Amino acid sequence: MSKKVYIGMSADLVHPGHLNVIAKAASLGDVTIGLLTDAAIASYKRVPYMTFEQRKLVVENIKGVQRVVPQTTLDYVPNLQQLRPDYVVHGDDWKEGVQKKTRQNVIDCLAQWGGELVEVPYTKGVSSTQFHKAIKEIGVTPEIRLKSLRRLLAAKPQLRFLDIHNALSGLIIEHTKVIKDDVPVEFDGMWGSSLTDSTAKGKPDIEAVDVSSRMSTLNEVIEVTTKPIIYDGDTGGKPEHFKFTVKTLERLGVSAVIIEDKTGLKKNSLFGTEVAQTQDSIENFCAKIQVGKAAQATDDFMVIARIESLILQQGIEDALTRAEAYLDAGADGIMIHSREKTPDEIFEFCQRYKALPNRKILVAVPSSYNQVYEHELLAHGVNIVIYANQLIRSAYPAMLNTAKSILTHQRSAEVDDTMMPLKEILELIPGGK
Ligand code: SPV
Ligand code: MG
Repeated sequence: MSKKVYIGMSADLVHPGHLNVIAKAASLGDVTIGLLTDAAIASYKRVPYMTFEQRKLVVENIKGVQRVVPQTTLDYVPNLQQLRPDYVVHGDDWKEGVQKKTRQNVIDCLAQWGGELVEVPYTKGVSSTQFHKAIKEIGVTPEIRLKSLRRLLAAKPQLRFLDIHNALSGLIIEHTKVIKDDVPVEFDGMWGSSLTDSTAKGKPDIEAVDVSSRMSTLNEVIEVTTKPIIYDGDTGGKPEHFKFTVKTLERLGVSAVIIEDKTGLKKNSLFGTEVAQTQDSIENFCAKIQVGKAAQATDDFMVIARIESLILQQGIEDALTRAEAYLDAGADGIMIHSREKTPDEIFEFCQRYKALPNRKILVAVPSSYNQVYEHELLAHGVNIVIYANQLIRSAYPAMLNTAKSILTHQRSAEVDDTMMPLKEILELIPGGK
């Protein structure tokens, strides 16, 4: 009887290195590919370009592959326990880094029935990291970008968004990465904040920056990034106008719009009841949601309803009644906002929101209750965390400080240490030379 051989792989960007591993495996026996699901891949790197079904189709048709089964975790052990292969074959590039522990678990597990790990030398000159970089440089189509939010939501328990107000802020969100516990951590997407876009244009956050101008900021960001965008649609304006906003956003490849249930002259929520702000009626706002949903051309675009009841001190009960009604009207999710210093009222809302029969995704914006950790919000069922204004709030004081220093010292030498070196700013954006 031929030996059983197992390979775990993502097979997103298939290259000769993969074929090499498969050829080695086929020389040892019958090959089963454990194809990592989107969620398994997203647990340690980015969500793959191709869907599971597309990747499965590719791998099934590679010479030497007998069958393909899903591997739902980065950890091989559950599949290995079930299949009890004689060999696991892998490239020798996982001895260090995020997969080091996974590798050891494979060795320990195989030892239970005398199985063996066979490592194939890493194929030089081809790396999915390089391909990934090249693909990023090519960019994405609006359709792929639009769909990417739903794909990310399906693959990850929680997403992290940060404010954009120009192309440079978009680039920061696109590329910034830190390694935490061996796993790369980055932002999942961009929040097209009305506050920061208005502020960058020197205008108050009262829908004074018109939709065309907001779209031109988005366009600027879209030109240099690939990650999904959630657009802050303010009140959405008149339903008759909101319809056109939805169509424009979809055309640009924006994944979602969030509209808030306020009416009349909109003021920023963080003013709370210090300024006159009026909440829309449930009936009117539901009608606006329905207009938005009817206007979209794809199934992928999302209209998320933002509830201002806590901001306007109308209480949790009102917020929940509205959540249920907005979801019934067709909203694809709820954003709940608060300007309290602690997350208590948000947590209370989250607990009760969980029990709603028509529950969909939940979005939170921890601007004032900034002590809260993402994992705490996750434990309460928050699917998207939006850091709504932190980039512009850090950029402005830095610029102000530089301006003051030049005025004070009548030269720029004193502030030089706090600035990016000239050489670096010249090379920050590649292609200038
Ligand atoms: C924004 O970023 O513009 C928002 C969130 O709408 S808040 O400023 O908190 O209202
Ligand atoms: Mg706003």
